[in-house]
Amino acid sequence: MPDIQGKHVLVTGGAGFIGSHLCDALLEKGAGKVVCVDNFFLGKMENIEDALKSDRFQLYRDDARNFGVMQAVMEKEDIEVVFNLATIALNYSFFNPLDAYMVNVSLANTLMELMKSGAFKTLIHTSSSEAYGTAKYSPMDENHPIDPTTPYAAGKAAADLMIQSFMKVLDIDAAIVRPFNNYGPRQNAEGPLAGIIPATAIRIKDGGRPIVNGDGEQTRDFLYVKDTVWGLIMAYEQEASRGQVINLGSGKDISMNSLLRGICDYMGYTGEWEHREERTSDVKKLCADIRKARRLLGFEPQMTYEDGIIETLDWYKGVL
Ligand SMILES: NC(=O)c1ccc[n+]([C@@H]2O[C@H](COP(=O)([O-])OP(=O)(O)OC[C@H]3O[C@@H](n4cnc5c(N)ncnc54)[C@H](O)[C@@H]3O)[C@@H](O)[C@H]2O)c1
Repeated sequence: MPDIQGKHVLVTGGAGFIGSHLCDALLEKGAGKVVCVDNFFLGKMENIEDALKSDRFQLYRDDARNFGVMQAVMEKEDIEVVFNLATIALNYSFFNPLDAYMVNVSLANTLMELMKSGAFKTLIHTSSSEAYGTAKYSPMDENHPIDPTTPYAAGKAAADLMIQSFMKVLDIDAAIVRPFNNYGPRQNAEGPLAGIIPATAIRIKDGGRPIVNGDGEQTRDFLYVKDTVWGLIMAYEQEASRGQVINLGSGKDISMNSLLRGICDYMGYTGEWEHREERTSDVKKLCADIRKARRLLGFEPQMTYEDGIIETLDWYKGVL
């Protein structure tokens, strides 16, 4: 069983929300080197403040799509394992659909070419539950049909297919992990690409109103970010993951109305909500079947939603 301890690991998108928590966890677990490649499209230096204090952490402000750059970094840092987390958030699909799609495909393309050339040994690739589209049955297992409703999700699905096909023809050492919605400290809180939880917390704090699209009955499965990070590391350490697609979620879904009500209650907001038109591309229902993660990885979410949302909102109250 491979152990992350002592390994030289590269994280694409390591200055982002999930990636920065992953870098921290890898350092804590004794990885020999943690190399972050992030072009800071949405990454933030404050996310990696703690990691930067370690002499086992190295930051490259670069584009992970660039084969030459990545090849040079991998050679210099003697990389064995890559966690691919770089992306541009789903909402980018509404502003620049082609780029939202292409970034996911190009990242996978570059990593597959690098693997083929022997630049590193193992890839843990981060896909997304959005690749499934709206639930045709629930909870959704990994055999659920792929039916993306946004270019972001189509890019994720295409990247998964590319990696799966490379796994078949080249016998490469890789696993695909499909997280459902994540929440926790450090999620992007600003602008049109902000996550729903931080965006709502900020609106309320700034005297604005929570925004709900459509009837608010669309559901998502929220997993605390540190549980996702644990699942990603387990996906490396448990070789049963290789060649597989594995969901990571809580196994329970919650409607946007319940989510917003909870945030309002905790923040003492009793005013009106702003109701906006339903976005036709919005997935209606997402709920993970996590039996495969339990079986192959020994994965079990540690944080309850009730505790996690309080910890998250307290964190946002502190930093915003
Ligand atoms: N947040 C969620 O709810 C969620 C759910 C399912 C899957 N995921 C997946 O998890 C991964 C991490 O998501 P996140 O929420 O942390 O996103 P994020 O936007 O916070 O982080 C992505 C990081 O990638 C960087 N980046 C973008 N393009 C890059 C490029 N070409 N080269 C180098 N860096 C680049 C950004 O600057 C950012 O720091 C993504 O692959 C995402 O699709 C996230």
